[in-house]
Amino acid sequence: MIEQTKIRGFSQLETDEKRKIIAQACFNNQHEADYFNEFTLNDKALQETFEQFSENTLTNHHLPFGVIPNVRIDDRIYHVPAVIEESSVIAAAAKAASFWFDRGGFKTIDERFVKNGQVYFSWNNTDKWLETNKNKLFSYLKNATSHLTESMEKRGGGITGFDIKKLTDNNLDAYKLTVYFNTADSMGANFINTVLEEIANALPLFAEQHNMNEPEIIMAILSNYTPENSVTLELSCPVEELTWNSTLPPKQFAEKFVKAMQIAQNDVSRAVTHNKGIMNGTDAVVLATGNDYRATEAAVHAFASEGGQYSSLSKAEISDGIFRMQLKLPMALGTVGGLTKIHPTASLALKMLNNPTAPELMKIAAAAGLANNFAAVAALVSTGIQHGHMKLHLNNILMSENATQEQRRLAKKWFANRTVSVQAVRAFLQNHNEMAQ
Ligand code: MEV
Repeated sequence: MIEQTKIRGFSQLETDEKRKIIAQACFNNQHEADYFNEFTLNDKALQETFEQFSENTLTNHHLPFGVIPNVRIDDRIYHVPAVIEESSVIAAAAKAASFWFDRGGFKTIDERFVKNGQVYFSWNNTDKWLETNKNKLFSYLKNATSHLTESMEKRGGGITGFDIKKLTDNNLDAYKLTVYFNTADSMGANFINTVLEEIANALPLFAEQHNMNEPEIIMAILSNYTPENSVTLELSCPVEELTWNSTLPPKQFAEKFVKAMQIAQNDVSRAVTHNKGIMNGTDAVVLATGNDYRATEAAVHAFASEGGQYSSLSKAEISDGIFRMQLKLPMALGTVGGLTKIHPTASLALKMLNNPTAPELMKIAAAAGLANNFAAVAALVSTGIQHGHMKLHLNNILMSENATQEQRRLAKKWFANRTVSVQAVRAFLQNHNEMAQ
């Protein structure tokens, strides 16, 4: 049953009016409109910048902007900006980054930067003709798009190749024309889609020039599946240097760690959580730098299923007394274009990283992922995850229980060597209140 009337012309209204209408419609209360206003910035011009990123903006939704200090990658040191709401993520990444800083840091062992997009079409002619003439078609399409690719070519990018394939599975009868791109330091989504749409226009003209039937263009779109746009990072050290904590001697720790990694490679239940732990760090950097975390998530999880079964993105081994851990992350990040310069804190984040190139940013985001992954698996095979997690979550519990500043101070002292849980915190606060009366 529809209880409310449809709101018409909403997107054309001023922000204040939008707030009032939504406050009335959703809360039946005008006060909530003021509440939306409370989280906006005093600087009107800056607030307008935020509002213009999207449509129908009512207020700002704040998340903590933190830093993972001392991330050493290929012997360069970064203090990595990270935006995340989960209390233990930055602490875990910082601890792992510091630990590995002293053991050589993160090393790049593979990098590749090829993006791709497709034009799907029904050919309506013989397959053989297309096969014979495909190279002619590719150079025609390259020429037809040269006005769009010229400036990208000056920045070292452009179209790097073509491929054509007939899709026949499940009685499908369609062609897939793949175009490969290098988009330099931009994520490149707009560039790729513009070029693909021009190719979609040029393809029927090519057929017409060769007296062929007109192909039907089904769609043209970039692919977020970017296995050839990836970085692979490695951490390594002699097993005896794996002195992560005092609960396990290094050799036993390393062996248990590798077994946990093998479980993540072979068991979907574990692989999904394992990869979520990687993305805790990676997404935080992607968000901080104004990049598209949905595209990143889609890319990495598709890649995790590449072998036909969802598996872990990282692996570890011990060989000749050396512990090695690797992470390969396919993703498409940019350091120019999009929100990177216009979002004030995204631009600040990039400045903190000394305005990196896109490949460099991919390594930084992967290093944050690998740091979180190492810290999570290390905790899982030694102390367990809740010990550290709940300590950091203590603040959130205290806030939700409306603890006073004094109660918070005492609670942190009390729980320094005790197990944190919602019940335990409630009992502590109750006790504290009774004693105060
Ligand atoms: C929690 O956000 C992430 C972990 O569950 C990751 C993992 O289990 O590897 C701790």
